[in-house]
Amino acid sequence: MLGLSYIALALALVTSSIEAKITCKCLPGSPCFPSPPVIKSFEKTLSEPLIHPRPMGSVCFPNDPTFNPTACAEVKSKWHNGAFRTSVPEAAQFINWETMINSTAVDQCDPFSDVNDPTNTCFQGRVPWGVVKVKSISDIQKTVRFASRHNLKLIVKNTGHENLGRSFGQQSIMLWTHNMQEIKFSNRFVPKGAPRGTTGVTAVTIEPGVQWGRLYKEVADRGQLIVGGIGAGGSVGAGGGWPMGGGHSVLSPFYGLGVDNILEETVVLPSGEHVTANRYTNPDLFWALRGGGGPSFGILTSVTYKTHPAPPVTAAFLVANTTTEEGRAELFKEWVKIHPTLVDSGWAGFWPYSGTQFFLTLMAMGSPPSNPKANATLQGFYDTIKNIEGVEI
Ligand SMILES: *[C@@H]1O[C@H](CO)[C@@H](O)[C@H](O)[C@H]1NC(C)=O
Ligand SMILES: *[C@@H]1O[C@H](CO)[C@@H](O)[C@H](O)[C@H]1NC(C)=O
Ligand SMILES: *[C@@H]1O[C@H](CO)[C@@H](O)[C@H](O)[C@H]1NC(C)=O
Repeated sequence: MLGLSYIALALALVTSSIEAKITCKCLPGSPCFPSPPVIKSFEKTLSEPLIHPRPMGSVCFPNDPTFNPTACAEVKSKWHNGAFRTSVPEAAQFINWETMINSTAVDQCDPFSDVNDPTNTCFQGRVPWGVVKVKSISDIQKTVRFASRHNLKLIVKNTGHENLGRSFGQQSIMLWTHNMQEIKFSNRFVPKGAPRGTTGVTAVTIEPGVQWGRLYKEVADRGQLIVGGIGAGGSVGAGGGWPMGGGHSVLSPFYGLGVDNILEETVVLPSGEHVTANRYTNPDLFWALRGGGGPSFGILTSVTYKTHPAPPVTAAFLVANTTTEEGRAELFKEWVKIHPTLVDSGWAGFWPYSGTQFFLTLMAMGSPPSNPKANATLQGFYDTIKNIEGVEI
């Protein structure tokens, strides 16, 4: 009996201490929300006034104040354009992240739905009420401090490829880092705080808005190579979420993950402080940032990657169409079987699968491949699968 009441008391204590720590974010419309003059005076400290976006599709709704048939036609034509979606704050790469789904309703703004139905409206969904178009590090610091002081829901969007939807949030304020576009090369980069006499290496320092498509070209123009990710049209950010999640690359088997190639990062911490992290300065933070996942530890303001001399490489592409269930199963059996051998013979790459189509994109170092087994191993795989019934290559 005594024991039981102790347990009940302990539970009550635990519960109340948890309750004390959890406070909901302050949302527009709540009494705690900063008044318009307070928001105005915050806004005046930023490089540019706040943007108050409506979802992209709003211009297609006759019952919406933003209705504009010309703009609607343009939005519809760019609806599936990933590069365009990175260039505006209100668009995610995965449309469902702009949408708020609860147990009874889907708050969305679909320009392809029946927009002339007067009961169909454009919902704000998870598109933020305010966007800070970041032009300087101090814009980030001021916003982090403002959001912290007023307990606001703060999100960060760079290109909007975030697969877990964290670059959007209902009734949030957004730090939009897309316009931070500086790229700086160095032939002798030495991390801040390195011991005297440390030898510099070739490197590139980028702001988070820089996208892989542009960075690959600039690095290649200098006859160099960088370990980076893939993304349709090169629109994935080179310095945002990709390295913070580890950074898988087709080059990883040869040069390591993206994070293994980072020499230094600068971030704004939740306190608003702007700091440098590398193996000599704030090494714990440097370790945490390289794979800690998204903006867990700070908001990235720059990343410095090693660059490498560009060796000749060999690429191999294959499209296999499968027309039968048995053919598909047989193709995958052969693919799984060859997998370890392929890696040992020097190939690395990706194999997206669409449901009926199997796409192989492989590369090997050297041209022809320097691994003596590379060619014959891949040829062996091609020869095997081309004879499978229900598979066309
Ligand atoms: C779900 O969303 C709808 C539309 O915004 C809203 O009216 C309703 O209250 C929400 N329900 C719950 C359970 O949050
Ligand atoms: C690769 O192997 C195939 C078949 O074994 C051969 O026909 C081809 O010439 C080889 N290519 C190179 C570049 O070695
Ligand atoms: C595979 O399917 C695509 C799309 O239907 C088609 O364009 C291509 O020619 C097909 N390839 C082969 C080898 O059948």
